Amino acid sequence: MAISVVCLHIFILLAIFFLSFLWYLKNQFPKPPRNRPAIPPGSQGLPFLGETLKLYSQSPSVFFGSRHERYGEIFKSHIHGSPCVMLGSPEAVKFALVTEAHLFKQIYPRSKEQLIGPWAVFFRDGEFHSRVRKLVQGSVSLEVIRRMVPAVESLAVAALESCCGDSPPAAVNTFHAMKKFTFEVAIILIFGQLDSVLTEKLREIYFTIDGGYNSFPINFPGTPFRRAFLARRRLGKILGEIISETREKRLAQKNLLSSLLNYCDEEEQVLSDDQITDNVVGVLFASQGTTASALAWVIKYIHDYPLLREAVEREQQAIYEANDGGRRPLTWDQTRNMPYTYKVVLETLRMATVLSYTYRVAVEDVEYKGMLIPKGWRVMPLFRIIHHNQDFFPESEKFDPSRFEAAQRPNTFLPFGSGIHACPGNEVAKLEILVLIHQLVTKFRYEVVGPADGVEYSPFPVPTGGLVAKFTKN
Ligand code: HEM
Repeated sequence: MAISVVCLHIFILLAIFFLSFLWYLKNQFPKPPRNRPAIPPGSQGLPFLGETLKLYSQSPSVFFGSRHERYGEIFKSHIHGSPCVMLGSPEAVKFALVTEAHLFKQIYPRSKEQLIGPWAVFFRDGEFHSRVRKLVQGSVSLEVIRRMVPAVESLAVAALESCCGDSPPAAVNTFHAMKKFTFEVAIILIFGQLDSVLTEKLREIYFTIDGGYNSFPINFPGTPFRRAFLARRRLGKILGEIISETREKRLAQKNLLSSLLNYCDEEEQVLSDDQITDNVVGVLFASQGTTASALAWVIKYIHDYPLLREAVEREQQAIYEANDGGRRPLTWDQTRNMPYTYKVVLETLRMATVLSYTYRVAVEDVEYKGMLIPKGWRVMPLFRIIHHNQDFFPESEKFDPSRFEAAQRPNTFLPFGSGIHACPGNEVAKLEILVLIHQLVTKFRYEVVGPADGVEYSPFPVPTGGLVAKFTKN
């Protein structure tokens, strides 16, 4: 009797499980009703898991490249637990990010919001987004960053000197050294001058958060995510103290923190401490790893291609000599007049594509070229696929700065995204890269001693091992 009751329970449980599974499949792979446009072609992989494991086991170039070749400019998949439509053409990306941007909203996993803070500008849409975005844009305007050249220059020299160490030179992880440099530039953007002990403390805590950003998001003692989560709390507390002190001093400064603190809308609403803190952490995150990744790549390319190196050296040496053998500092005008090096920077941003793709979510059923993007599905503009498309960039795997002598076709060069969420910090990033290259090729020598090929994701792409190299000062 007892056995048959147990069997009945097991049978009911299995039936419930089976029916839920059918229900799940029906919802994951909805059939469009008659007269409704078809969902784009593609595969959604395994039930529940989708294609996420495949994405992580292959590189984004292979994963997206093979599907783009097979299905065309727009195709479906299933990533991070959500059905999605990948957009691999300039027109489709423009559609989602610019012309019909109102049909797509920002979406990020909750774990990322927990580590950065839900009020960060790139998590938001609408009124709040446009207000804070204006404040960020104001703090990185050309007017502001032109005054930053001397500070960026001394931080670049310090970063490169710290790579040299003792003699004989030790092998260093170039990406880590560049992260320190870009962190310090971000600190200046956000706070103006900040005490060096406090900067170091913030750096240590921030790097613990950064270390958990790409980890599996389980908030369990001992996991990297947990460490990052606790570090974010500590960082929030310290930033809260800096905010209170700065508020009391009422200093008339032009940096991001003071813009956030002084903000007041028509209804006399100010930003809360949480909103300010989340945006400080947000800008640290958006600016630091991205620019360090681009720097690691440009240093690698200059190393790998001797002709490129010669041309960059020639241009930079002329500036160095004009500055009395580097005794006078670089000027803003000089940083705006490095035509060859600038093209090297653009080609690096194309080749490396620091942000391979981004995400949005469809707020309603959207039709694109006779295909349906169902409400609630994610769309993923694939910047990397466009940057490596032979139709827009012939011999796309060749590093060729001369391709930037001509203007690019609209919406084919998108290292900083496009539309209302496009990167407001692109000029700062380019300034950091140009200034560091100037110092590197005029005052230092280096040799890559680690793996020469391969890419790692941190989450941004970096040369394998972070580009292990030995640096010496001339
Ligand atoms: C090479 C370096 C960089 C690259 C490749 C890069 C790339 C990007 C891209 C592609 C986006 C758009 C993302 C999307 O549409 O979802 C973006 C947004 C953003 N970036 Fe950058 N970025 C870089 C450096 C910086 C720097 C130095 C700052 C410093 C202010 C910064 C601040 C931001 C912010 C605040 C956003 C969000 C804007 C918004 O949502 O309105 N980025 N970045």
